[in-house]
Formats: sequence, structure tokens, C-alpha cells
Amino acid sequence: MQASIARNDDLAAETRRALRRLASAVAVVTCRDAAGRHAMTATAVSAMSMQPPSMIVCVNRANAFHAAIGRAQAFAINILHREQQRISVGCGGSLRGEDRFGVGAWDEARGVPVLVDAQAHIVCARDEQFDYGSHTIFVGRVITVGTSGTVDPLVYVDGRYTGLPGDALPAPLSEIDLLYQFAL
Ligand SMILES: Cc1cc2nc3c(=O)[nH]c(=O)nc-3n(C[C@H](O)[C@H](O)[C@H](O)COP(=O)(O)O)c2cc1C
Repeated sequence: MQASIARNDDLAAETRRALRRLASAVAVVTCRDAAGRHAMTATAVSAMSMQPPSMIVCVNRANAFHAAIGRAQAFAINILHREQQRISVGCGGSLRGEDRFGVGAWDEARGVPVLVDAQAHIVCARDEQFDYGSHTIFVGRVITVGTSGTVDPLVYVDGRYTGLPGDALPAPLSEIDLLYQFAL
């Protein structure tokens, strides 16, 4: 038994080391419940499908945000701009509760807090959830979306924040190329 726990710990450490090489866009997930507004930094966010347009967010059950999103009818995924590192740090643990909304300009869409200058906000109705290990996967059906500014996301890789180098984005693809590339 002890040996298999040790093996699992090793595997978790190896997996963490490998994941430092997985560059992720950074989002702040928000919701509102009877107690007020809640926000949490997350990289475990993904598109789920386009039929219907839907998103998933993986939330650690140990986080206060877990109970809040479980009570809320809707949540928003705010995709951060390269300049919004302070918001990521605040909503990632350095600030608590309502203080997380003290950094950045916040508005509301469909009753859910949204960050005004985020690259995009995607508001979802909470639809399904699945527990797995330490986390819950929340599935949301998209109900409204907004975008702001040019594409310049905040990126988290190797435990650090960065952005894409200026020449990292190739020329935009046509809509037809996009349909073939991302047959979601
Ligand atoms: C860059 C970054 C990415 C994170 N990604 C996630 C994530 O995908 N899911 C998650 O549950 N926590 C994630 N966290 C951790 C939470 O943001 C952090 O634990 C936060 O303090 C939780 O707040 P709460 O306990 O008030 O809900 C991430 C933190 C950082 C800094």
C-alpha cells in the first residue's frame, strides 16, 4: 500500500513537471450566488462543443469557488489580456472574496460578473457536472459572448506569465479554413 502511494506521488510530480510545458491561456471564472460575486483564476478551461456551443471548467473541490459555482445558475469565463496578470494573481489566491473585484473594471452580463477589458467573456448556463478525483468538471451552455480589443492573451507556462511574441500569430485563416481546422 505504502509503495503504491509513493508511486502515485511520483507520478503526480512527473505529471506536474510535464504540464509546466503546456502553455495555457488564463481565464478568470466568475459567478454570482445569493451571497454575492465570486471569481477564480483557471487554466483548466476548454471549449466543449459547438452543438450546442458549450464550455467546460475544472474546479478543485477544495476551492471556495467550487461551492459558489455549484449554487449559481450561470458562470462566465473571462479570457484575460496579456496586461491582466494582476487580476490573475488576485483571483488566483492573493486576494479573497469580494476584494478580487477591486482590481480591473467589472460589469455584468445576464447577472454574471464580467471583466470589461477581457479578451472575451463567455457566459454559460450551468448544465451538467461530473466529479473526478479532486475536481469537478462543470459543463456550461453558452448564453452570451463579448470580445474586446485585438487578440493578445495572457499565457501561463512553466509557472510564469507571458504573452505571445509579436510575430507568433500567422496571418488570419479564412472562415472556411477555420471550419476544417476546428470541426468542433
Ligand atoms: C494560473 C493559475 C491557474 C489556475 N487554474 C486553476 C484551475 O483550472 N482550476 C482550479 O480549481 N484552480 C485553479 N487555480 C487555483 C485557484 O485560482 C486558486 O486556488 C484560488 O485561490 C481559489 O480561490 P477560492 O478558494 O477562493 O475559490 C489556478 C491558479 C493560477 C494562478
